[in-house]
This record gives sequence, C-alpha cells and structure tokens, in this order.
Amino acid sequence: MLLGMLVLGVVGSYLYQRIGDRLVQSRTDQATAEALSLTELAQAKFYSTDKTQNTDALTVAAQSIIAEIAGTERSRYVVLARLSTNVSSYVINPVVSGEVNDSHIPDELETAVAEDPAVQKVQIVSVPLAGEPDLVPCLVVGQQLDLPLARGTGIYYVYPLQRERSSLAVISQIFLSGGIVLVALIGGVAYVVTRLVVTPVRQAALVAERLAAGRLTERMVARGEDDLASLATSFNAMAEGLQRQIRQLEDLSRVQQRFVSDVSHELRTPLTTIRMAGELIHDSRAQFEPAVARSAELLSGELDRFEALLADLLEVSRFDAGAAVLDVEPTDLRRTVAKVVDGCQQLAERKGSRITLRDPGVPCDATYDPRRVERVLRNLIVNAIEHGEGKPVDIRVAANDGAVAVVVRDHGVGLRPGESGQVFNRFWRADPARARTTGGTGLGLAIALEDARLHSGWLQAWGAPGEGSSFRLTLPRSPGTHIASSPLPLKPVVESPEDPT
Ligand SMILES: Nc1ncnc2c1ncn2[C@@H]1O[C@H](COP(=O)(O)OP(=O)(O)O)[C@@H](O)[C@H]1O
Ligand SMILES: [Mg+2]
Repeated sequence: MLLGMLVLGVVGSYLYQRIGDRLVQSRTDQATAEALSLTELAQAKFYSTDKTQNTDALTVAAQSIIAEIAGTERSRYVVLARLSTNVSSYVINPVVSGEVNDSHIPDELETAVAEDPAVQKVQIVSVPLAGEPDLVPCLVVGQQLDLPLARGTGIYYVYPLQRERSSLAVISQIFLSGGIVLVALIGGVAYVVTRLVVTPVRQAALVAERLAAGRLTERMVARGEDDLASLATSFNAMAEGLQRQIRQLEDLSRVQQRFVSDVSHELRTPLTTIRMAGELIHDSRAQFEPAVARSAELLSGELDRFEALLADLLEVSRFDAGAAVLDVEPTDLRRTVAKVVDGCQQLAERKGSRITLRDPGVPCDATYDPRRVERVLRNLIVNAIEHGEGKPVDIRVAANDGAVAVVVRDHGVGLRPGESGQVFNRFWRADPARARTTGGTGLGLAIALEDARLHSGWLQAWGAPGEGSSFRLTLPRSPGTHIASSPLPLKPVVESPEDPT
C-alpha cells in the first residue's frame, strides 16, 4: 500500500504539473495573438489621430483609444505607460482601462519591452483584484507602441487566469478523490491476495506442527491446480512417506522386541536344566582333580551371570514393550535405602569399602514402587563399591516439598568427561575388558534409568577422573507429578572447614 501511495503521488503530481502547463500555454497562445492584433489596431489609431497639439490633448486621445480596445468584461485590462528609455520631453501619464495600473507591471517586463521594440513579452504576475480574497495570477503581454510626441510607450494586456486556476482546483480534487479510491482498491486487492496465500501457508504450518507432535495421519487440503495446491500435494506426499517409514521402523522394532523377549524366555528352560546339572557338579567338586574342580567353580559363576543377564534382558524387553507397571505404596525413602545398604554390607566388606549413610532425621515419605527403587539403589551402591577401589561410599537422603532424593557418592575411578551421559546406555562400560569379569551385566543403569522415568523421576550421574562419582535419584512425592528441584546437589559441594566430618 505504501508503495502504491508513493507511485500514485509521483504520477499524480507529474500529470497535474503537465495539465497546468498546458492550460497556461494555450491561454498564452490565445492572449498573445489577441494582443498583437489589438496593438496593431491601437498603433494605427495613434498614427491617424489629429489630437497632437499638446500632451493633454494626446492624453485624452490615448484614453479614448485604450477604452476602445479594453474588453467590456473583466477578462482583460490594458495599461499604457511611458518606457524608462524614453527621452522625449512630451510626457503623458499612464492610462489604464480598469483597476490594474502601471504599478502592477513588473520592472523586468518593462525593461524587456523597452529593449526589444518589435517582439511581444510575456510574464505571469500576481495581482490583487477587487472581489478576490487573494492575489490572482495574471498573464501580462507587453509590447512597444510608438506614440506621436510622447514616443516610446509600453502597452500591456493583463489577462487574469481565474478560469485556469479554478479548472486546476477541480482537477486536483478529482486526482485526490481518485487517488484515495485507488489506494483503497490496492489495499483491498492486497488483503484478498495475502489472505489467499497466507491461509494455506498457515494451514501447512499447523499441519506440520501436528505431524511433529506425532499425529501422522494429519494431511493438508489440496484444492484447485495452483502453486498452493501443488504445495499441499507435495506436503501430503512427504507426510505419507514419513508415515510409511515410521510404520516400518515401528514394525521392525516391534519384531526385534518380540525376538529378544522370545529368545530370553526360550533360554530360560534349558538354563534351568543346565543350572541344576551345574549345581550337582559344583557340589561334588571335591571328588575331582584340581583343574576340573576349578572349571566347576568357573561354570557356577558364569551360570550366575547368565541368569542375571537373562533376567535383565527380560526386564529391558518389558520396558520396551511398554509393559512395565508401577506398584506404588507410600514409603519412607530412608527405610528403603537402609534395607539396600544392609544387603550390600557383605560385598562392601569384601571390597574393603565402608558405607556411611547420613540420615536427615526427618521422614522422607513418598509414594513409589519400593521393589523398583530398591533395584535402582542396589545397582547404584553395588556400582559404587565395585568402582570405588575400596574407598568409602557416602549415601545421603533428603526431602523437600515436592521430591525426595538419594545421592550415592564414591571416591573411586570416577567418570571421564562425557561419560556421565553414556553410563545409562545399554551394555556401555568404561572398560569393557575389566567390567565383563567383575559381575555387572552392563544393563543395570539402563534399567535404573527406565525405573526412574516410570516414576517421572530423575537419575543423573556426575564424575571426575580420580575424584570418584556421584549418582542422584530424585523421585516426586507422588508418581507422575513434576519435580521442580532436587533436595540434594548432584555434584559434591566443598565441605566447610568448621564441619567436623
Ligand atoms: N560409581 C561408578 N564409578 C565409575 N564408573 C561407573 C560407576 N557406576 C557405573 N559406572 C560405569 O558405568 C558402566 C555401566 O554401569 P551398569 O549399567 O551398572 O553396568 P555394569 O555395572 O554391569 O557394568 C560401568 O561399566 C562403569 O564403567
Ligand atoms: Mg551395575
């Protein structure tokens, strides 16, 4: 619209200028032709007059001649005035036909007329006329006249341009109202066109958002055969392709989940048999040669790991299938932690680690699934002991308005930068060679994270090489509610020196 207004303004003022120029030009042509013939007439009359005895008689003759050639209406005024270059001793006063007198004739024009006796001179001046509120632009045509006795005199015809002025006023009115109508039209057209384009684009954005939110069946309406319709068609084709691929991937992953779950189940039966046979061999190892007895012990250990791995695999496939359910009850987190710590004491003694449990002294009640939380904590504490290199393991429990938390901190090998995110990946181990012999299945933290998520809780890790690591489990007071902040810091805070511990 701004652009339209600018263009209209420029074109409009140019046209207005041209029309004005034309009007003045045609008036000028007409006026000069008329003035020329009138001047010839006046010149002839002056030459043929016999009132040349003195200036008074000449003045009277001049007045009658001017009165004759002046228009009857106020369309033309005539002024007769002595030129400044005139040196004759006979002087007649200026003769005027109406309200315009010699003072309205500009000096410039007078000089031009005096310098060039043969040619008409034209100029536009503003003159006050009776009955007009402001100055009226007038076309003044001047020429030299040769008077008897008085000699060089200028005769000036003054044509008021009122008609032209009012025509221009009407034209500018028309231009203005036409311009306003045009601008309104441009605005209307622009509005309609943008609506036509913007509405489908907005719709596309909306559909794209819904697709991104997982509503894969969402499609655009493709109407007509224009560019927007082809946009909608391509968009829909893209959505179709995406949906097909996602379906395929979903099917594939469902098949894989089924496979893992089936294999785990299938393995259970033979494993039970092998387990029984293995136990039999293990129990009677005293009767074997030392090398065979050692093999029997190894077999028993590996069978334990095999069973644990199978149990973990089944658990993971239950999570993947979305079959994991919470079995919640209101519990004090301090009790759950104490129970798990008790269970881990033996392992801690064997590894030489001392477990300290700092009790906040206030109940840390929350509603959660105690068996799942026990499993998470057991995994964290066993990890802390196994990777703690015999150094102390500190456990803290705390609660705030919306959440309860437990932090398990060890002072062992710690985690290298970037590893705190990877520890939760399935089968990820910092040192695969070592870890595969030290018990864990590599699925412990992955399962723990799923358990925390099931509670809408957080499980986070921090670690630094040589400084140990810290794992924090935060659970909402009731499952599914949002956690604003954890009551405990994940990173160990530097203890104040006054603190006796
Ligand atoms: N407290 C810890 N300190 C150092 N590294 C750890 C700690 N806890 C876990 N990790 C690293 O994370 C890996 C994955 O742990 P996890 O899922 O429990 O499996 P696993 O214990 O069977 O190895 C471990 O192998 C170890 O490298
Ligand atoms: Mg573990």
